[in-house]
Amino acid sequence: MTTVVYPGTFDPFTNGHADIVKRAAALFPRVIVGVAANARKAPLFALDERVALAEQALEGVSGVAVIGFGTLLMDFIHHHKARVIVRGLRALSDFEYEFQMAGMNRRLDPTIETLFLPAAEPDGALSSSFVKEIAALGGDVGPFVHPAVKAALTAALR
Ligand code: COA
Repeated sequence: MTTVVYPGTFDPFTNGHADIVKRAAALFPRVIVGVAANARKAPLFALDERVALAEQALEGVSGVAVIGFGTLLMDFIHHHKARVIVRGLRALSDFEYEFQMAGMNRRLDPTIETLFLPAAEPDGALSSSFVKEIAALGGDVGPFVHPAVKAALTAALR
């Protein structure tokens, strides 16, 4: 039973993230969405809110658990006995950062593989930062996020 971890800050979780999770869940029996505390990014939503929003956005998707963590990703992976890190790749610009992160993680534990899934066509330009900016300026983020995330953004940015 291969467990995979899809890690990210998810501030907030978008439809692009949900697409990656659903595709990973079709390939592997157990997918853990690892929500990183990532204070470095100064997230808009607290860790427990980001976990709750991802859970709502993924309701009904079987084989998926959403868990927050504030440790090294590799410690989180070991704790949950996972074997694979899944990451989404949107554009070539993502590649350098992702390649570096995969390389550092491989240095920490060469037995853990990083697997990249290409973002689906409509999600190529989607990012949590753009979603927050559009919401903050009164734009409609409905096409990009689950209704629960849209409502949370409206409340947080009011
Ligand atoms: N669809 C939509 N958006 C996507 C996407 C997709 N398929 N794939 C990535 N993104 C966006 C995210 O929304 C995010 O946008 P933002 O920067 O505007 O907020 C951006 O791409 C990347 O963010 P995310 O996927 O959340 O990753 P991250 O770079 O914020 O987080 C961690 C990276 C959490 C995996 C990494 O920091 C980590 O492992 N932290 C734990 C500590 C650790 O072990 N550090 C050592 C690592 S070697």
